[in-house]
Amino acid sequence: MAGLIVKNLSKTFEFQNKKIQVLKDINLDIPDRSFITMVGKSGCGKTTFLRIVAGLESKTEGQIEFINCKDRSKKKIGIVFQEPRLMPWLTVEQNLAFSLIKCKDKSYVKDKVQATLEILGLADFKKAYPSQISGGMAQRVSLGRTLCFDPKIILMDEPLGALDAFTRKKLQNELVDIFIKSGKTFIFVTHDIEEAVYLGQRVAVMNNGIITEEIQIDLDFYRNPEDAKFLEYKKSILNIYK
Ligand SMILES: Nc1ncnc2c1ncn2[C@@H]1O[C@H](COP(=O)(O)OP(=O)(O)O)[C@@H](O)[C@H]1O
Ligand SMILES: [Mg+2]
Repeated sequence: MAGLIVKNLSKTFEFQNKKIQVLKDINLDIPDRSFITMVGKSGCGKTTFLRIVAGLESKTEGQIEFINCKDRSKKKIGIVFQEPRLMPWLTVEQNLAFSLIKCKDKSYVKDKVQATLEILGLADFKKAYPSQISGGMAQRVSLGRTLCFDPKIILMDEPLGALDAFTRKKLQNELVDIFIKSGKTFIFVTHDIEEAVYLGQRVAVMNNGIITEEIQIDLDFYRNPEDAKFLEYKKSILNIYK
């Protein structure tokens, strides 16, 4: 299991000879087995933050310390993107197995893929190709592909953003199920305040590359968005942007 501590993280991009500071002195403590959501407007630096944590982008300044997970090369970080990014020429089960392509133990791969298909309710569709499944299912396969390689930390970049409201709610609850059962650490990025309050044990509010506030959500999972306290949290986040 693993957590991470982000210290004074900054990122500056150079674009057309101009420097743009996208992340400014980010400090964040993400304990092992926690579910943190990051919420912020489009362009505030959420994807850049996740890409740096995943090792897909370099940082300009600062440190990221992984607790109990020092070796990032051992693939202990998984990332789920907004679009499923499945391989269209592979079936659902082959897409899942692809994440374990380097694993020589074929029976382990078979069992892992089967177990993941069952967790995500995809067993009946394992022979289907991406073009034959719905957007919600494709996003489940994308999540499944990440779960298959058993990362300790799962980064999610607006993974439910393109789904209809019903499918989105269902998948939000499935994520909570997986979080509770797996004991993994989740960092979930969204621009949707309700989604951030629904999923996070803590919400980090981001604005123009700065984490302006961190809000602890003292509500049990499978929250009711109509609940007075839930609405209160939503309101307090909205007020930060005023
Ligand atoms: N490779 C890059 N080169 C230059 N600017 C970039 C690059 N990647 C992102 N940016 C800029 O950084 C800012 C934050 O982008 P991003 O992290 O994608 O925000 P978000 O995910 O919150 O929408 C944007 O202004 C974007 O244009
Ligand atoms: Mg983004």
